[in-house]
Amino acid sequence: MSTLHVEELDDRVVVTLRRPEARNAINAAMIGELHDVCAALEERPRLLLITGDGGTFAAGADIGELRERGREQALQGINSRLFDRVARLPLPTVAAVDGYALGGGAELAYACDVRLASPAAIFGNPEPGLGILAAAGACWRLRELAGASVAKQVLLAGRRLDADDALRFGLVAEVVPAGELLKRAHAVLDRMARSGALALRLTKLVADGAGHPLTDDLAQAILFESEEKRVRMDAFLAGGRS
Ligand code: COA
Repeated sequence: MSTLHVEELDDRVVVTLRRPEARNAINAAMIGELHDVCAALEERPRLLLITGDGGTFAAGADIGELRERGREQALQGINSRLFDRVARLPLPTVAAVDGYALGGGAELAYACDVRLASPAAIFGNPEPGLGILAAAGACWRLRELAGASVAKQVLLAGRRLDADDALRFGLVAEVVPAGELLKRAHAVLDRMARSGALALRLTKLVADGAGHPLTDDLAQAILFESEEKRVRMDAFLAGGRS
């Protein structure tokens, strides 16, 4: 992996975002490598810890790449599909945030189940300043995590949340010194690992039930079994288009 350091343990995977030359900005290579991690965790469910190297979580999507993307790439949901995949991993995920978590970096942290922060953590969504919107989950996940008022301050007024703000607003579970951040994150994962894996997995599935992707899948599952779907699709395939 060129943008991640991945440590595979028996009950968890530890992923460190590592693009020091770009403050761990999320580029296409990192997206691909994070998809590989997700595929491995879907295949063999384990807990996930995500952190960033060098005192930064991630300074957003890679702006050089973002600049070249057009409507087609936006509709592909390059970041949003990855973050949805992270959010839907079978077992819980923890983000350990030291330093900046901006733009897509913040959205990746929002997609995790639990966030811990160092005192230097800064969350923000400066996308409108670049002439775009935070389209990979911030517009609805931040509202769910911290409430509409805080979300609008971040999304519309460019407010950056420091560690104390993030703790006060419930965005992070704890603030711990940078040197103890990973140890504390592992302790949270140890506590999770003591629960029954299937119980944890189903609890996560049910607890996330109000989220959009799961609702979509359940609704689609009902529709896929419906007689009307068969009739309409048979009619289309038989050439009887109305
Ligand atoms: N995409 C691409 N490159 C980025 C980047 C991003 N999101 N964020 C930082 N970098 C690069 C910088 O261009 C710089 O590269 P250079 O050394 O070749 O000039 C390098 O990372 C270091 O960044 P720098 O701005 O010098 O570091 P800093 O410590 O002064 O500031 C930040 C850190 C995170 C506050 C600042 O880099 C920043 O504002 N980044 C963009 C944040 C953003 O708008 N994210 C939303 C994107 S959707």
